[in-house]
Amino acid sequence: MNPSIISIINVKKSYGTKEVLKGLSLQVSEGEIYGFLGPNGAGKSTTIKILIGLTDCECDDILLAGHKPIPRNTEYLRNIGVVQEAQSLYDNFTVYENLDLFRKLLGLDVSRLEELLDELKLRDHQDTKASELSKGFRQRVLIARAFLHKPKILFLDEPSSGLDPIAADKVHQFIKNLKESGTTVFITSHFMEEVEELCDRVGFLKNGSLIEEGVPRELLVKYSAKRLKDVFLTLLKDDDDE
Ligand SMILES: Nc1ncnc2c1ncn2[C@@H]1O[C@H](COP(=O)(O)OP(=O)(O)OP(=O)(O)O)[C@@H](O)[C@H]1O
Ligand SMILES: [Mg+2]
Repeated sequence: MNPSIISIINVKKSYGTKEVLKGLSLQVSEGEIYGFLGPNGAGKSTTIKILIGLTDCECDDILLAGHKPIPRNTEYLRNIGVVQEAQSLYDNFTVYENLDLFRKLLGLDVSRLEELLDELKLRDHQDTKASELSKGFRQRVLIARAFLHKPKILFLDEPSSGLDPIAADKVHQFIKNLKESGTTVFITSHFMEEVEELCDRVGFLKNGSLIEEGVPRELLVKYSAKRLKDVFLTLLKDDDDE
């Protein structure tokens, strides 16, 4: 196994009196696609916010590509790209202009923008205003923006939520190509078929900590399940019975 590029040890996070993370520890290897799973409200997006330095926490140690997320520094930010829920584009700008703005801020050559327009099949829509984009195209522009600087780690929080199967497939193809280039992907999703297709390893978050982790096909054997969805339902069964 490759060395860890994401290392979290004993992370605790509360909002007021509500304890969301109660000692979360996990390691993600370089080049892995890691599926971070769990029911609504489990703390997946919160974990991503902690990892990208957007919110604080109590923790023993968090390291991403050798850097701590807080305080945020350029060396650290260079290594990460993020697509979060409900992120926005500049609505009055075209696809091209949205990406070009960030390309210039990042000091990248225009050829990088051209590459991404092709890789995410955005060429035909490069002159469309962001306000006129469908959800699937909007999501692809957000992914292109997050990946402009070729970060070592890409965080994707429910990247295919609300996408039709064709749009989702474009996103999946892009993620698979990222793997070829050695990028580490930390992805949350409620679509277990997507997780089975993409993820090298998954972790299940419940009640503030990881309750299961492993390679999808090994978990299927362990739980005598045909689909990852059944493993997920088994792990959540106790809650359902309450
Ligand atoms: N800014 C906030 N202030 C207070 N509570 C919050 C805040 N953000 C999240 N929470 C709470 O923390 C818990 C975890 O939320 P989080 O968004 O991390 O869950 P999630 O696993 O991403 O869920 P989902 O699958 O629905 O996206 C929830 O109970 C949520 O209500
Ligand atoms: Mg979430």
